[in-house]
Amino acid sequence: MEAENQAAVVRQNQGEIALILMQNPPVNALSKAVRVGLIEEIQASLDDDSIKAIVISSQQKLFSGGADISEFSSGNLEPNLPAVLDLIENAQKPVIAVLNGPAFGGGLEVALSCHYRITFSDNKVGLPEVNLGILPGAGGTQRLPRLAGVATALDMIVSGKPVSAKALPTVFDLLVSDPLDLLNEAMGFVQQVIADGAIVKRVKDIVIDPASAPAELFAQYRQGIAKQARGFFSPERCIQAVEASVELPLAEGLKKEGELFMECMRSPQARAQQHFFFAERAASHVSDFDKTTPVREVKKVGIIGAGTMGGGIAMNFANAGIPVVMLELKQEALDKGLAVIRKNYTNSAKKGKLTEQDVENRMALLNGTTDYAGLADVDLVIEAVFEKMEVKEQVFSKLDEVCKQGAILASNTSTLDLNQIAAATSRPQDVIGLHFFSPANVMKLLEVVKGDETSADVIKTCMQLAKKIRKVAVLVGVCFGFVGNRMIEPYGRESNRLILEGATPEQVDKIIYDFGMPMGPNTMGDMAGLDIGYFVRQSRQEFISHDPSYCVVGNRLVEDGRVGLKVGKGIYLYESGSRKPIPDPSVLEIAKQEAEKLNVAQRDLSDEEILERCIFPLINEGAYILEEGIAAKSSDIDVIYVYGYGFPVYRGGPMQYADEIGLDKVYNAMCQYRDSLGEYGKMWFEPAPLLKQLAEQGKKFADYKPA
Ligand code: 3HC
Ligand code: NAI
Repeated sequence: MEAENQAAVVRQNQGEIALILMQNPPVNALSKAVRVGLIEEIQASLDDDSIKAIVISSQQKLFSGGADISEFSSGNLEPNLPAVLDLIENAQKPVIAVLNGPAFGGGLEVALSCHYRITFSDNKVGLPEVNLGILPGAGGTQRLPRLAGVATALDMIVSGKPVSAKALPTVFDLLVSDPLDLLNEAMGFVQQVIADGAIVKRVKDIVIDPASAPAELFAQYRQGIAKQARGFFSPERCIQAVEASVELPLAEGLKKEGELFMECMRSPQARAQQHFFFAERAASHVSDFDKTTPVREVKKVGIIGAGTMGGGIAMNFANAGIPVVMLELKQEALDKGLAVIRKNYTNSAKKGKLTEQDVENRMALLNGTTDYAGLADVDLVIEAVFEKMEVKEQVFSKLDEVCKQGAILASNTSTLDLNQIAAATSRPQDVIGLHFFSPANVMKLLEVVKGDETSADVIKTCMQLAKKIRKVAVLVGVCFGFVGNRMIEPYGRESNRLILEGATPEQVDKIIYDFGMPMGPNTMGDMAGLDIGYFVRQSRQEFISHDPSYCVVGNRLVEDGRVGLKVGKGIYLYESGSRKPIPDPSVLEIAKQEAEKLNVAQRDLSDEEILERCIFPLINEGAYILEEGIAAKSSDIDVIYVYGYGFPVYRGGPMQYADEIGLDKVYNAMCQYRDSLGEYGKMWFEPAPLLKQLAEQGKKFADYKPA
């Protein structure tokens, strides 16, 4: 333990100054060893009469990434961070934080408890705890408002977003412009503090003027964030904690902060959001490659098809400074695709997100061709043409002819068999799926699909490249729809069947919206176009033909030309130019007629049944996917659902949600619907063997390790 403490925190005395450095890679998390080390070294410096001032800094790139999140579930948090900060704040010698790199969460809270703070202007600091379903629990909600002002603190704490140090001039006593000068200038500052009598400036002595934070400020703030905070538990607690900083002296405010912190920490949302934090990072830990696996260089990218997806995909690479050549069969299609990209960039510029020069720089990276010879020198090519196997096979066989050896050949197919596509080439080891989500320049998710023969270096290259283009990549195997679209199928099927059984579309949508999805399945269907699902169903008759009720209401609407928002009518009606769904009684009539034809008794459906029948079969499909090894771990499925489908992050993803409510509950409900819904129940509600097994063993999906 001793050696561990010494390693996590070191002290170098420089004359009258004790320089205490944290060194806990990779992010200088404030783990137990760091907290113990800080206490020991601060105490030793206070006991040493030759020391007149104490500097806390770090020997890593970051000052600190905050509390060690992996310790939260252990319950072993002693000595706790507030105790360390109490020692700092009440020290009789000045303690100065020198932020040599970013400081987040508890890391920033360490700095706030010090008597002086120094950093460089462009450094980043923040209190991102809200993203973990909690609030800053080591004084951040009390000290930041005292130093930065209530409005600024509210923004930082409730949004969790990092800000530049230069945006917080009242928090820092010295802002150095060049980070390379930081240590020198900081030491000069500290010597001056000593020369001026080593005055200790405690944040707890600052009293916030209540007039600077009237009740309306908080009321307005609550109103302003209502939409983005919908369903989340911790933002409201963050606001309450900041309110306490105005109303109470520091010691009492800290007590209130502690209570609110524990209330959040005990909530299922904190478990879910912390699960998701690690899930997102764990997605890049895959067993298909290791450190020794080489990576191919990707300096130029080809894209086949300049349609909806091709254009969005191209923008990702241009945004990352990687040149792209786009191929279409006809010049008009190419021109149209490039014009759409320019329009998207121009719109971003109008909103102030890009400068005119950025737009031109990005467009200059995008070239077009109608000749496959233009792809001879690309390192990666991504095909995004029509979703037809014959077309994809033709394209891949052509790519095999023209692309240089070692080029990665990727398909953006959302449903087709990647192995069959790979077989159209003489180099299946170089073929991979890169399944972007629409709009491809916005959505963070990338399903990286490995075929039977995809080589490890191709997988590693694509997983790493995803980071460069700011995507979160999840590696999946080949099956119809891969992970995301395969799981959405039962969700869509049930939402349609529920209408047949007597639920109204708006009832289904409200329940799913209240669960936390961005919109209900019927609104989503209308937005995407009901014809898309219809065509997929046409090509999947072998899968659905045994169920005569399968999406019959959706089918009727499409056959009547009601394909959704784009024509002003689908499951809902839309007024011209409006996206607001208006319920249409004639859809209920269609459902009634179809139900009569199929002998389905219509009835009142409870909210609980609607929710369970949409969500549990989706989870059940996730269990099959895990068991088949299409996803390597349940947390990968969660990442796909949160980033690809807007599953509420405060539920952690569908598999974490199931783990939280208990797999026995999901299993029992599946059995109950299987047994109570007649033939239909038998067709679609059989629990997956893995769900049954884990539920019987009292385990979670997170416990599952493939054999
Ligand atoms: N605790 C434990 N592990 C952490 C961690 C933390 N606070 N922050 C990062 N890690 C781990 C990651 O899981 C990852 O592990 P892996 O390599 O095994 O996957 C590794 O450190 C590197 O993390 P990133 O890949 O995220 O590294 P980046 O360089 O891209 O980003 C970062 C660094 C910006 C610090 C980012 O990791 C981050 O945002 N971390 C979380 C920051 C945070 O939320 N802090 C608040 C913590 S709660 C708190 O302080 C409570 C207090 O108020 C009492
Ligand atoms: P799209 O119809 O908007 O674009 C396809 C483009 O490919 C058209 O511009 C067409 O001219 C071009 N094209 C067709 N055949 C070609 C060929 N042989 N050579 C060169 N160009 C050719 O289609 P979209 O939506 O962009 O879809 C493309 C692919 O992306 C499909 O495989 C689809 O399944 C997949 N996908 C679509 C998503 C979506 O939401 N639209 C989401 C994820 C994947």
